[in-house]
Amino acid sequence: MLDFTFHVPTRIVFGAGRLEELGRLPLPGVKPLVVVGAGGSMRRHGHLDRVLALLRQNGCEPMLFERVRPNPSLVHVDEGACVARANGCDFIVGLGGGSPIDAAKAIALAAANGGSYWDYIQSGTGGRRTPQHPALPVVAIPTTAGTGTEADPWTVVTRDETQEKIGWGNDSTYPVLSIVDPALTITVPPRITAMTGMDAFFHAVEAYLSLSRQPSSDLLALEAVSLLAQFLPQAVRQGDSVEVRSMVSWASTAAGLCESLSSCIAHHSMEHALSAYHPDLPHGAGLVMLSLPFFEVMARVQPKRCADLAATMGMPLHGLPPAQQGMAFVEGLRLLIRAVGLDDLRLADHGITAAEIPALAKNARETMGALFPLTPVDLRPEDVEAIFAKALAGPTA
Ligand SMILES: [Fe+2]
Repeated sequence: MLDFTFHVPTRIVFGAGRLEELGRLPLPGVKPLVVVGAGGSMRRHGHLDRVLALLRQNGCEPMLFERVRPNPSLVHVDEGACVARANGCDFIVGLGGGSPIDAAKAIALAAANGGSYWDYIQSGTGGRRTPQHPALPVVAIPTTAGTGTEADPWTVVTRDETQEKIGWGNDSTYPVLSIVDPALTITVPPRITAMTGMDAFFHAVEAYLSLSRQPSSDLLALEAVSLLAQFLPQAVRQGDSVEVRSMVSWASTAAGLCESLSSCIAHHSMEHALSAYHPDLPHGAGLVMLSLPFFEVMARVQPKRCADLAATMGMPLHGLPPAQQGMAFVEGLRLLIRAVGLDDLRLADHGITAAEIPALAKNARETMGALFPLTPVDLRPEDVEAIFAKALAGPTA
């Protein structure tokens, strides 16, 4: 029976050069807190000055919070919420990659409700409190193409002392406005382009396999998979093409919509465990390193769906028996990882050891367990450990 809810309340303004519209679009307040990463790239590339000037042009008096690190930390989220409350900020702007935008959403929730953001987390050591107020409105301006956070309510924050990286969101943490200007992604270096683009690829693939899928997420997932298979290798090689960057940015936003309309599956739970223990590991890299053994399992249980993905990637299926058609997706994935230059990634090079595997498998279930019932096969703890072990052994195993 067809049965679904379609709800994405974000106004998405998409197109090269459209950041300029920040200077005249209706905004949800007059005193934004602009949240950016601590690395300084938004300043170096001129994006920060441009955004501040456009906000002022639009009658705003922006404040700045520049403390967010990759895999944003609870400490900085709580600090940002204090800054927003102390200064009477009435909306939050997230500018940059997924980390500052996710941090902006979490800051918006904590600023509106008081206390620590972790009080509202519903798993692990979270306080499991129900927010009494909607988050402050969020405006998202992505400068990378991958996380899709501009088109979903999810915010992923890490509590360092307990090694928990947990996704959370509610209706109020959808951005009210997302300006997706692919021209802003031109300065992203090839390796980051590859890693963030593969994150988008997995959002789409997982949404297509998830038991929470719906007709619109299927359409958007196949669109994103097709575009990324075709254009991500080009964006890595030829990053100055606005046309190519536009295709990848749209694929990322389409995959973000998939995360709203469907969901990720246990592949993302397992990666969150990896980067909770190793916060310097980029999310996209962790996903890539787990992906081949994980999707081999999915291809066995969902051969038809995986065959759809393989066909969408342009893999030849003619004459293959049905079971091998599903495995053609795994082969297509292997070729894509090579084409974007990430086939050199190894878990061992990031300090991950076999001794950690039981703890990683336990962490994946305790912190991001909600994705397991949406995964199209019941992964027992020993199955999760086996996938981690196979990923650690590397692609020749
Ligand atoms: Fe992701």
